[in-house]
Amino acid sequence: MEKGSSNRPHVLIFPLPAQGHVNSMLKLAELLCLSGLFVTFVNSEHNHERLVRFTDLQVRFSKYQGFQFKTVPDGLPVEHQRTGDGTSEFVLESAIEIGIPVIHFRTVSACSYWSYFCIPDMIKAGELPIKGMETFLRCRDLPSFCRADDTSDLYLQQMTNCTRQTLRARGLILNTFEDLEGPILSQIRRRVSNVYSIGPLHEHLRKKLIEQKHQTHQSSNSLWEVDRSCMSWLDKQPSKSVLYVSFGSIAVTTKEQFLEFWHGLVDSKKRFLWVMRADSVAKIDGEAEDYPPELVEGTKERGFIVEWTPQEEVLAHEAVGGFFTHSGWNSTLESIVAGVPMICWPYFADQQINSRFVGEVWKLGLDMKDVCDRKVVEKMVNDLMEDNREEFVRSAAKMAELARNSVSKGGSSNHNLNCLIEDIRLMIG
Ligand code: UDX
Repeated sequence: MEKGSSNRPHVLIFPLPAQGHVNSMLKLAELLCLSGLFVTFVNSEHNHERLVRFTDLQVRFSKYQGFQFKTVPDGLPVEHQRTGDGTSEFVLESAIEIGIPVIHFRTVSACSYWSYFCIPDMIKAGELPIKGMETFLRCRDLPSFCRADDTSDLYLQQMTNCTRQTLRARGLILNTFEDLEGPILSQIRRRVSNVYSIGPLHEHLRKKLIEQKHQTHQSSNSLWEVDRSCMSWLDKQPSKSVLYVSFGSIAVTTKEQFLEFWHGLVDSKKRFLWVMRADSVAKIDGEAEDYPPELVEGTKERGFIVEWTPQEEVLAHEAVGGFFTHSGWNSTLESIVAGVPMICWPYFADQQINSRFVGEVWKLGLDMKDVCDRKVVEKMVNDLMEDNREEFVRSAAKMAELARNSVSKGGSSNHNLNCLIEDIRLMIG
């Protein structure tokens, strides 16, 4: 952060080049612009080119004085898949070196941030590598890299170092809200100063755009081309009858897992809308794609498959009654705001802990972690959409209201965003 030419603070935002990070950081960028700050948003060239191709981003941000996009090369060859998540410690190091104040924005939940933060303490206490400890957070609920046999595992080290870097920053922004994660935020505040919980960011931004009489827009920060045909299909389905299935932007299933999911969905006899990116199932070279006819038939009757949806709109659609998700943090928050209960199949990293909280703490759905069996899928879909639906819907509606209140005037996230902006001004003033 530094002072711009007009004496307005100028904030540089540098996301990891992955959909979940770019999406929430763009929302933060827009919130800062609406508060009158100047913002420079740094994208990788590859992602920027996709955003420009698939969204109205440039038009949307052109109305903000002092906003600009900048790009940097990611150094990867064009044909590289670019799947996976990493860390970017060099950003903080460079900023400190040239004397620019840094605030960390971690796009994960407070519960996963806290579990990352505690890893060095767990190693010191001999609790990692895991030796069969079974507390409320079972081994399998910890971030996936905690399953490593060796604490020198590169990914484990990277995630830990990156998280502990917050201690060298001036503060920490989290996309969450006090009513959802208050007790964990209190734990974090014992070790980290200036924690700003300002989420759910997508709802926060929507509210602010309305307040300031700007046109609201649905999520259009996609790195994939949105296929809107699913919205007309949803329009034709009965209220709350459809299970929305999406495993985010990174997860890749094996063909066996994919077929188990598919069988389970078709056998449940419920309607489903399934996001299947071109790269979401691991391909086996030379294998012909002849799918069992009963799956193809069942899908024709009750299912719809697309490559990429306008997810926030889908979750808000009257026909959607459940979300089968990988528990990425953006998806989880989007489901919470829409009041849609979840079945969780976490794929990696923070998702393991998010799904435990969805199932056991917030009671917003079912955790299917580490299981991929058609019978279990069928049973969970029926539980969520029919047999135990009432209790899930009740807690989801309650949490949705708390989420909306938190970003309204007088709400905790609204208050914390004001504090963040004030602190940025003071930091630079
Ligand atoms: C990654 C990590 O996996 C996740 O755990 C971490 O919390 C953030 O970074 P990703 O796997 O992509 O993100 O999941 P998620 O955080 O849920 O973000 C996916 C985003 O893509 C959501 O905002 C969702 O609305 C959007 N999306 C997904 C679409 O717009 N359309 C789709 O069809 C699918």
